[in-house]
Amino acid sequence: MRKKVTYGYQNVLPEEKRGLILSHFEAIADRYDLADTLLSFGLHFFWRRRALQILNLKHGDKALDLCSGTGDFALSAARSVGAGGITVACDISRQMMLAGQKKACRHGLHKSIEWIQGDAEEMGFSDDSFDAVVVGYGIRNFVFLEHGLEEIFRVLKSGGKFMAMEFSIPKNVWLKRLYGYYSFKVLPRAGKMITGTSEPFNYLAESIRVFPPPEKVLDLLSAAGMKNPGFVLLNNGLAVLFYAEKP
Ligand SMILES: C[S@@+](CC[C@H](N)C(=O)[O-])C[C@H]1O[C@@H](n2cnc3c(N)ncnc32)[C@H](O)[C@@H]1O
Repeated sequence: MRKKVTYGYQNVLPEEKRGLILSHFEAIADRYDLADTLLSFGLHFFWRRRALQILNLKHGDKALDLCSGTGDFALSAARSVGAGGITVACDISRQMMLAGQKKACRHGLHKSIEWIQGDAEEMGFSDDSFDAVVVGYGIRNFVFLEHGLEEIFRVLKSGGKFMAMEFSIPKNVWLKRLYGYYSFKVLPRAGKMITGTSEPFNYLAESIRVFPPPEKVLDLLSAAGMKNPGFVLLNNGLAVLFYAEKP
């Protein structure tokens, strides 16, 4: 029998998971940014700023925003790497990237980002291509996390930097309880009001809870070949930033 993988609290076949995740993002693409801001109470702006501070992109860098969605990280990266640098945004969802392209136009950055549709777990990029890879809320959706991290390692140049931002579970007991109620009772309803569907938000709440704890992710980063892996918890653990380098 073929091995199943976790999809929230369910076990499904790998291609089923990939299809379900793609369908979620295709469905909510036009309202994704609004949902991200309202449902994180605007905290994601702070989390992204912190992630980019740690990543510390330089003028002339070649940066990849992987699982870019609507490209919030790509927009910031394009500003940081400047005209001499290159920013690539890569996502499996065409609709998410179309929404991102419209946003890039509004910010005058449409010529600064290359948008490429592709699967993070099987990228078409050559080995040693990027100075930095940033992944916003993406690695939690990988079908095979270990393999996805190895792919990221492969496309990074030697000395290249990795950064992933993810949701996590707060450490404080009371906040954790409140967050449990918010995730399972409020988030799917509010998400449906904003985007018209609750399923991606049910999946979100469950997937955060089945994702490996930060310490385990560090082990996987090391196993993928990365050096100096670390993580930073933000807002008592509501979000986590993972970072590492390719030796
Ligand atoms: C929660 S959104 C995050 C978007 C954006 N990175 C951000 O920070 O807001 C997750 C994105 O990952 C994309 N995605 C999921 N699995 C992927 C994969 N295997 N390869 C490429 N993109 C993937 C989805 O299509 C979606 O756009």
